[in-house]
Amino acid sequence: MKRYAIIALLALAACKQQGGAAEPAKGGPPPLLPYQMRAEVPSGDRLAAGRDGKALFENHCGACHLIGGMGTNLLTKQRVMAGETPDKGLLANRTDLTADYVKQVVRMGKNAMPAQTRVDLTDAELDSVAAYLGKAN
Ligand code: HEC
Repeated sequence: MKRYAIIALLALAACKQQGGAAEPAKGGPPPLLPYQMRAEVPSGDRLAAGRDGKALFENHCGACHLIGGMGTNLLTKQRVMAGETPDKGLLANRTDLTADYVKQVVRMGKNAMPAQTRVDLTDAELDSVAAYLGKAN
């Protein structure tokens, strides 16, 4: 009987140890990256001209086009292959984009980028985003 008690105690100790090892790491999950936190949508009339292009871009396109986003990751590779520096993977750092090109890509999509409808982004909002990104104009 004594032997069984010792075995039971050992088994219990082993379980406790295993449980301890499986505990989540201290300090909680790592902080969210910029693209994982949707920027605030600017208030006001979505159909009005001259909206905040930067804020709209960060809200509507940021999940893919801010640091760490899948669009940024894909474009960084493309720009580096084209002989440019990695920072050009961020659309906000590009100086070769025209507003017309931005609008075309947004409405038609491009390879891995899905087209964005007028519900996603109204024409007025797209004009503002295109003006913000279209630094080659
Ligand atoms: C679901 C993710 C996603 C969203 C949302 C998204 N994009 Fe993209 N975008 C991509 C990806 C991925 C690419 C790269 C496409 C490829 O070449 O395969 C891309 C490419 C582009 C390009 C082309 C760059 C070049 O070098 O030709 C432009 C311009 C662009 N996006 C603008 C925007 C704008 C403006 C928005 C917001 C209105 C937006 N995108 C929203 C994923 C996204």
